[in-house]
Amino acid sequence: MSDKNNPIGLRGIEFTEFTGGTLEQLDALFWAFGFSKKYRHPKLDISIYNQNGINFLLNGEREGFSGHFAKLHGPSISSMGWRVDDAAFARQEAVRRGARAADPKDCDLPYPAIYGIGDSLIYFIERFGARGSIYATDFVPHEQARLQPDKGFLEIDHLTNNVPQGQMEQWGAFYKEIFGFTEVRYFDIKGVKTGLTSYALRSPDGSFCIPINQPKDDKDQISEYLAEYNGPGVQHLAFSTNDILASLDAMKGGPIEMLDIDANYYDNVFQRLPNVREDKERIRAHHVLVDGDQDGYLLQIFTKNIIGPIFVEIIQRENNLSFGEGNFGALFRSIEKDQERRGVI
Ligand SMILES: [Fe+2]
Repeated sequence: MSDKNNPIGLRGIEFTEFTGGTLEQLDALFWAFGFSKKYRHPKLDISIYNQNGINFLLNGEREGFSGHFAKLHGPSISSMGWRVDDAAFARQEAVRRGARAADPKDCDLPYPAIYGIGDSLIYFIERFGARGSIYATDFVPHEQARLQPDKGFLEIDHLTNNVPQGQMEQWGAFYKEIFGFTEVRYFDIKGVKTGLTSYALRSPDGSFCIPINQPKDDKDQISEYLAEYNGPGVQHLAFSTNDILASLDAMKGGPIEMLDIDANYYDNVFQRLPNVREDKERIRAHHVLVDGDQDGYLLQIFTKNIIGPIFVEIIQRENNLSFGEGNFGALFRSIEKDQERRGVI
């Protein structure tokens, strides 16, 4: 049950809901990542995709909340479902702590909800694990189900929010005061021409993190995101895997493009991180980034923007809980190069 460090009884992420763009594009993208299409909503145009502990909802409704959200933001994340011990209590306590209760007519799904980042919804889900599954009770098997072997993606490790200049503290307070997130890291990142400030929060149950980025000027990647997305929202989702090289092998030949890295990136990375056990040639061939310290390391890679301005990160952690700060400079320069190619900076 809830306690003072976990006031609403948060237990992790149940699902992420996508809207906007064309259904075919998002369907193809989810397929390329190794998701299977399994269920649909009995009445609304909502399909459920699954891979291990990650569930995606694809909402094709073009009326109501999701339709409005799609018109406002284009391809976007319109809601998340967060697991809690008791959904009615979670909403009541969240509202008591300052959250705004969602208008029931904004809710396509029958779960208590509040408004989160950029007026997306956070639904509270109490049916999971030993208590069953919302997909078994509130959804039906999809007539056009498409199943495939998974590509090794296990959970959402973290999701990052982009917010306008001056709003980082306010959004940090939202997650800390309402849900009991704790601050784990603070970064100041400089590219060659631009920069950003970021700090990371961990959920009170320890199951996922939310780093928050705010821009330093009006041309950096965060400002570009905010203009394209038409407001604050999720910048990227990170999928965890136990074997990033196998996951990338499984995605080979697919449509998902990864960010380039500096040609000299590998010049000294393995001297800095001698504990890396994976095949260094395969790491190099897949353009995987490496970071860590004396105790452990992580392997990570970032896609280009694939859902409007949203991208995906793939991360394998080996006794390391960081976000790859050692790579932020390289990543930031890579996005700057991409911005330069597109004439933004
Ligand atoms: Fe990340």
